[in-house]
Amino acid sequence: MSDPSVPHHVAIVMDGNGRWATSRYLPRIAGHKQGVEALRTCVQSCIDRGVAVLTVFAFSSENWNRPTEEVSGLMDLLGMALTREVPRLQANGVRMHFVGNRLQLSSKVQAGLVQAELDTSKNQRMIFNICFNYGGRWDIAQAAQKLVDSGQAITEMALDRAMALAHVPDPDLLIRTGGELRISNFLLWQSAYSEFYFTNKLWPDFDAAALDEAIVFFKTRERRFGQTSAQLKTQGKSHPVKVHAVKVA
Ligand code: FPP
Repeated sequence: MSDPSVPHHVAIVMDGNGRWATSRYLPRIAGHKQGVEALRTCVQSCIDRGVAVLTVFAFSSENWNRPTEEVSGLMDLLGMALTREVPRLQANGVRMHFVGNRLQLSSKVQAGLVQAELDTSKNQRMIFNICFNYGGRWDIAQAAQKLVDSGQAITEMALDRAMALAHVPDPDLLIRTGGELRISNFLLWQSAYSEFYFTNKLWPDFDAAALDEAIVFFKTRERRFGQTSAQLKTQGKSHPVKVHAVKVA
C-alpha cells in the first residue's frame, strides 16, 4: 500500500532558471543546464519518497517566442539530457513519456523522444512525464479534435480519455518554483483538484529539502473534491477517493 500522505502524482512548473543565471552574470542557458541538474535530483527524491508519477513542464507552446538562441539551446539541452540521463533513468526503473505537440519538433528530436520512451517502456518504479512543446489549451483542443474525428460525443469522460495525460491520474500536488503565482497554461484540465504549492526558490535551487517542504504542505491539506469537511469525517476519510474510470497508474 502506498503512503497516502505522499502525493501519488507531483507536477512541477520549473521556473526561475533565467533569473538564477542572470544573478550570476551567466547566460540564461547556463540556468537551464543547472535546471537539468535540479531535475535529476528531483527525480531521485521523488523515487526515494514513493511518488508514483512526476510530470514536469520543460518547454511550453509559448516558449517558441523566446530568443532564437535560447530556443535552440533548449532543444540541444534536451538532446544532451536524453543521451546522458536515459541510461540512469533506465537503471532506476523510471518510465519516460513525452507529452506535447511533437510535430513541430525536428525529426532528430522526435526520434530521440521515441527512443527514450522505447528504452524505458518496461519500467514500473515511477512514471516521468516530460511536457515538451506542451500547452494545456493545446491538449484540450487536440482531445476535442480526436473526439470529433472519431464521431464521439464530447463528454467529460471521453475528453479525459483523449487527453495527453490519460495514462496517469490527475496531479495531487502542483508545485511552481520561481515566485510567480500563475499556472501558465500547464495542465489546465488535469489540475482541477490539485493542491497548489508556490515557492520563491528558483528551480536550480530546488533540492530534496525543498521537495520535502512541499510534501509537508500537501499533508496539511484537506482534499474535499466538492464534498464538505463534515461529510469526510462521517466517511472516516481524510479525503474522498476520486474515482478514475480510465486512468491506471
Ligand atoms: C522556466 O524558467 C524554465 C524553462 C522554460 C525551461 C525549463 C527547463 C529545464 C528545467 C531544464 C530541463 C529541460 C530539458 C530540455 C530537459 P525561465 O527561463 O522562465 O526562468 P526566469 O523566469 O527566471 O526567466
